[in-house]
Amino acid sequence: MSITKKIKIEKVEREFDFKGFWVRLWELLAPSHGMIKKILYMMVVVELSRLAGPYIIKLIIDLISDFSADKIWQLVLLVAGMFFVYEITSLLQYGNDRKIFKVLADSEKYILESSHKKLIFLGLGYHEKENTGNKINKVQRGTDKIMELISNLSWEVAPTILQIVLTTAVLFWMDWRFGLVILFFVPVFSFLTIKINRQVFPLRKSRYDNYEHAAGMMTQSIVNINTVKSFVQEKKEGERFGNIRSKIHDGLLLEYGKILHQNLKRNLVIDLGRLFMMVFGTYLVWTGQITIGSLIFVFTVSEKALISLYRISRLYDRIMESSEAVERIWELSKEEIDIKNPSKGLRPAKIEGEIEFKSMSFSYAQSKSNALRDINIVIPSGATTALIGPSGGGKTTLARMVYRHYDPTSGTVLLDGKDLRKYDMYAFRRFFAIVPQDVEIFNASVSENISYAKSDASMKEIKAAARIANAEEFISQLNDGYDTVVGERGIKLSGGQRQRIGIARAILANPKVLIFDEATSNLDSYSERLIQDAMDKICKNRTVILIAHRLSTIKKADKIVVLEKGQVVEQGSHLELSRAPGGLYKKLLDLQKMGEVD
Ligand SMILES: Nc1ncnc2c1ncn2[C@@H]1O[C@H](COP(=O)(O)OP(=O)(O)O)[C@@H](O)[C@H]1O
Ligand SMILES: [Mg+2]
Repeated sequence: MSITKKIKIEKVEREFDFKGFWVRLWELLAPSHGMIKKILYMMVVVELSRLAGPYIIKLIIDLISDFSADKIWQLVLLVAGMFFVYEITSLLQYGNDRKIFKVLADSEKYILESSHKKLIFLGLGYHEKENTGNKINKVQRGTDKIMELISNLSWEVAPTILQIVLTTAVLFWMDWRFGLVILFFVPVFSFLTIKINRQVFPLRKSRYDNYEHAAGMMTQSIVNINTVKSFVQEKKEGERFGNIRSKIHDGLLLEYGKILHQNLKRNLVIDLGRLFMMVFGTYLVWTGQITIGSLIFVFTVSEKALISLYRISRLYDRIMESSEAVERIWELSKEEIDIKNPSKGLRPAKIEGEIEFKSMSFSYAQSKSNALRDINIVIPSGATTALIGPSGGGKTTLARMVYRHYDPTSGTVLLDGKDLRKYDMYAFRRFFAIVPQDVEIFNASVSENISYAKSDASMKEIKAAARIANAEEFISQLNDGYDTVVGERGIKLSGGQRQRIGIARAILANPKVLIFDEATSNLDSYSERLIQDAMDKICKNRTVILIAHRLSTIKKADKIVVLEKGQVVEQGSHLELSRAPGGLYKKLLDLQKMGEVD
């Protein structure tokens, strides 16, 4: 009992929604509905034929308790019948098992596929609010739990319930008093089962929260392993993980202690049922109201039903365990895609690439202040527009608006004079390419990483792109050159190398609109100069949005827009802005000249 004191049972606000759970599970299994119905019909037949076996045994016993030689053929027929019935049952079960396996295999495939698809198509807004470990955990565990649930339901729960219903009916038919026994014990038993689950529900829920917590902690310490080691926090991480696992361990013991305790009561109920059946049955045989065969039949089927009751109550526990997982994966399936693609969006064959912001404001969900406020700028086609300003000013956000990763809170973003929301999202984005500050690298070869947007690119094209991006030299020094697998998130590459791969990737995509988001910030001055030359080459005839930190990078831009606190504070050419007295650009320029700001 000492454990009880240690664990604070967190109050659970949400009671278990039993009906909702089944509705959700049924929705998740939509593609298998037809098959599941067939399985259920078949199950009734299988369970009926299961009752036929013991009934034939009853007939045989009745026959041999009053046996004479002329009944030999009857006996042979009955014995053969019994064999036949058992074989039929087994064949029917075989057929049904195959269907159940099909549902299992199918549902695993479509639930995982649709969850993956959902995650891929959901906007950045969704992905920002959920942590990677959680998302993957949700999908993987959810699917596993659903598989487990389907197996339990189709091999245990549904047949057992059917069996109990059919047995009760048959017992009533034999003698209503037998039927009454089952009718009495089933509710008592169910009551006990539901009661224990009510008690255990909050414990289980907090255990599950702790599971997730522990998994998250493990992920965090492994993902940030460099920091853990550099700051010598291995021991602390180990202790924190150990603490949470102790909570789980103690909770588990407490939970199962309660369940095992309750099992004593459940067993008592079953034993009382048996006792009653036997006493009452013996009495009926004694007084000549039923035969010995009937008593054996009653005892066999009721024994089965009572044991099934016991089993089903344990399954109830397990169904409750799966419910969380089902709930979460269902929620994912219902997650609305926040950026809606128009059904008949524009799909231009080519674009000019002029982008205009008209009185556009935007704020991130759950954020109080506007990230961008009343933006009115034109990004001319075929020219280079630079975005500069202090960090947190909204430059990256503006670039995301151009991509329509988010929709404006008010105002519009126009591409070639038309609202971006009128375009088919996947069509217009093909004309765009971006080199973000943190280039995402797949755990694949260098050449696959470069040709990500153009998987049919030839080696010659890939090499040409790498050359322009000034990546050729370092690639040739890698162990396997272009075939080197660069590790998860590009862990085997330096920041500057990752950026150059990102640039090569964008070059190969050959976009009409090219966005560099501080793409040269991780490069040394020498590499930056080389990249600069490369950019000069590839920026011709494209709309280029150049977000840069160092002002030296942007001097040549046709237009410079200065963003501060989400607002455009200045725009014009380098010459104009550097002469504007008191302007932010001039101030930044002077600071950099003094070498105070890199
Ligand atoms: N995903 C996000 N959710 C909420 N706020 C964000 C998000 N991304 C950026 N912000 C906020 O928006 C503002 C602009 O950020 P950002 O566009 O990244 O600035 P910059 O690229 O100019 O440094 C900052 O105040 C930042 O905290
Ligand atoms: Mg930024």
